[in-house]
Amino acid sequence: MTVERSSPIEMSQTWTGGQIRNAFLAFFAERQHQILPSASLVPEDPTVLLTIAGMLPFKPVFLGQKERPAARATTSQKCIRTNDIENVGRTARHHTFFEMLGNFSFGDYFKKEAIQWSWELSTQVFGLDPKNLVVSVFREDDEAEVIWREVVGVNPNRIIRMDEADNFWASGPTGPCGPCSEIYYDFKPELGDIGINLDDDTRFIEFYNLVFMQYNRDALGKLTLLEKCNIDTGLGLERMAQILQGVPNNYETDLIYPLIQKAALLADIDYKKVDIQRKTSLKVIGDHSRAVTHLICDGVTASNLGRGYILRRLVRRVIRHGRLIGIAKPFLVEMGETAINLMESVYPQLLERRDVILQELQREEARFLETLERGEKLLVDLLSEKPSRISGEKAFELYDTYGFPLELTQEIAEENNLSVDVEGFDRAMAEQRQRAKAASISIDLTVQDAVDQMAIDLESTNFLGYELLESRCTVQRLLVNGKPAKIASIDDSVQIALDTTTFYGEGGGQVGDCGTLVGVDFGNNSALVEIETVTRNDNVFVHAGRITRGTLKEGDTVDCRVDHIARRRVQSNHTATHMLQSALKQVIDPGISQAGSLVNFDRLRFDFHAPREINPAELEQLEKLVNSWIAEAHPLVIQEMEIEEAMASGAVAMFGEKYGDLVRVVDIPDVSMELCGGTHVKNTSELGIFKIVSECGIASGIRRIEALAGQGVLDYLQERDGIVKELGERFKVKPNQIVGRVASLQNEVKSTMKALAVAHEELALVKVLSLSNESITIKDSQYLVKRLDGIDGNALQNAAQSLVDKLGKNAAVILAGQPDLSDQKKVIFVANFGSQIVTGGLHAGQFVGSIAKLCGGGGGGRSTCAQAGGRDVTALNSALDFAREEFISALS
Ligand code: SER
Repeated sequence: MTVERSSPIEMSQTWTGGQIRNAFLAFFAERQHQILPSASLVPEDPTVLLTIAGMLPFKPVFLGQKERPAARATTSQKCIRTNDIENVGRTARHHTFFEMLGNFSFGDYFKKEAIQWSWELSTQVFGLDPKNLVVSVFREDDEAEVIWREVVGVNPNRIIRMDEADNFWASGPTGPCGPCSEIYYDFKPELGDIGINLDDDTRFIEFYNLVFMQYNRDALGKLTLLEKCNIDTGLGLERMAQILQGVPNNYETDLIYPLIQKAALLADIDYKKVDIQRKTSLKVIGDHSRAVTHLICDGVTASNLGRGYILRRLVRRVIRHGRLIGIAKPFLVEMGETAINLMESVYPQLLERRDVILQELQREEARFLETLERGEKLLVDLLSEKPSRISGEKAFELYDTYGFPLELTQEIAEENNLSVDVEGFDRAMAEQRQRAKAASISIDLTVQDAVDQMAIDLESTNFLGYELLESRCTVQRLLVNGKPAKIASIDDSVQIALDTTTFYGEGGGQVGDCGTLVGVDFGNNSALVEIETVTRNDNVFVHAGRITRGTLKEGDTVDCRVDHIARRRVQSNHTATHMLQSALKQVIDPGISQAGSLVNFDRLRFDFHAPREINPAELEQLEKLVNSWIAEAHPLVIQEMEIEEAMASGAVAMFGEKYGDLVRVVDIPDVSMELCGGTHVKNTSELGIFKIVSECGIASGIRRIEALAGQGVLDYLQERDGIVKELGERFKVKPNQIVGRVASLQNEVKSTMKALAVAHEELALVKVLSLSNESITIKDSQYLVKRLDGIDGNALQNAAQSLVDKLGKNAAVILAGQPDLSDQKKVIFVANFGSQIVTGGLHAGQFVGSIAKLCGGGGGGRSTCAQAGGRDVTALNSALDFAREEFISALS
């Protein structure tokens, strides 16, 4: 069912999405709320896959587990929900990706202020008429109703009581929660009585939810009062845009519509004119394009698990809906580019990660297209047999052989009024798993499945590697080339489980050790295994490598020998990571916390939550501080203790990490104290030296530092030295003269380019006048639409004017191009219409403005002469085709 309203409401002022976002944040900033950046879509909270609400980043604050960032905060938070994915495009308001505006009180103000401000914002800032507003209150919350009625003055007829299902909000089955109160917009107040619920979404839309967060719910469902009462609110940006822009659904707001237009252009259809099914497809594409772009930006890659699967499913839905509306070629990159252009000013990390986003989209689209065609053919054949429903086996075949997610088959089935036998599908899936298990030696098993199985009934490996690098142990199990085996011989690639090991298994951000296993039974002919890395499967260590001599059997005794040098490097980097975290807390902000880390043999990577970029002077300070700790030669004290004791002595724990009762504490006295299972140096002086090599943002509010310690620094300096020497030789100058030489070369290039541009322009103008021959005559008018690159706006304007002068007053000319060929993000359009064209009803300003929109821009001007700009060069040719079609229909 579609629930669009047919008659848009009238508003005296049109708000853009951006203006709504800014007005909300400014309103609360004026009321002492700290504006915080949107957190990543990938939450720190390990119990949820994605950030589903504006409050999620603050969950530990509400629970008192983390210090509050401020007493009051306000955010515009990017969110993704996929529980209503089937409704996307079908109703006026369901989305996967959306932005939630929120104001939060952490133990500061409560109901009264939250209610008063929400009303003031809605009616006085956004100008909503109280006659259009309805308020819902939790059945048991008399206090809230009194505030709405008596403090705010809401008409009691427009307050409605609701039960838990609607007015008790929780972020999940457990965690912080509380009663809530919502504000709805009533599009048709003239209908009078608001009834007993507000489910009719052709009439009502809930746009603001105020949660009075006062409980924690435990796993048994028990509610305990939180120490302090909090406020969590959420105002749906897209919904407010729908209301204020007077459009019939969220998709037609400026936040999404450009994406729909882009998809319509690619499919060569007109959104306003197509049937409801194609409209739905366009909306799905518009919605999901935003979601996938942001997911990849925040570090998600497509896979068959968790977030990766959500991304994969969304990408596949975009592609399928693209095909439904007739887009035959790959188009995801273009959608991604349009999404980035649309949102980069608010989320600059989209620009920083542009290449990564587009590459992942391209890869995933190519992957899916390969199987889609074959699968679709099968499904069409299947549907032509007019089955009563799609059997579980067929759905499983589509899944297993053609990569069709079950949901996709279900959707296609639904479009054909069929159902899918989901139970049958589950059965077929379970049977397949069973077959794979039974035939575990068969080639069907993936290596990971085989490793899982190898580890399943083994005892935990006894890890000796904190104290020792070598020890004698016994081979428990073997995989050869990914399959269980009793014996492995030379050149075999193996995975080995041992009873005891000195090899560190990848974990806590630190990579697994490398080294060798040496058989002890046959002297020089004993087995030799080069171990490349070690991972952990629960507590079973899996040593992966290659046999380079002899044979190895289950039950053999081997000596395991960790590569000393590699271990020294990795542990220097690990200790350096701890010192870096401490230095960040001292130099930048004590509230800085870890978001992730990678410690390998060459370098360390540390991701952390920080509200802004770290400047070069601060980076230097960080380096100096860590180097001073190295020079001070602090001995490390590592011990196990009860978690309570560790936390009481101030040890830093990684948020979201699960710790047992007994924890390992790595203490660098006076410098840092962290819970950590990794390997470390004995004394900070072993590091020698520390150097930061890069700092950048990787997601909203998350920065990354890459750094080196010890030998890694020397390698780095040697490489840099080599570059400096080579540049000096090339430019024939001394190292200290390189910068000056480069600057003068840059100046030379600049002036040469300028001269070239002038020449180019002169040449282009000569060419332009000859273009008058290319004008197209329709009845007694003529039009000319032409792309001219490398010419600036003024020159293009003059050219259009000269052409109209030459062609006469019944001529309309549009010229457009990319003024600077090295800038893919700037397009200029000019229009010059003769006086008869204008009398005939065409307006140069409006005309050129609507074409520029297709390139992600806008503009306008007078009826005879106008100029506009755009940001997407790739859309230029199709925008010009659109202009031609418009002329044909207007002048015919
Ligand atoms: N957490 C509430 C919601 O998502 C209010 O922000 O609706």
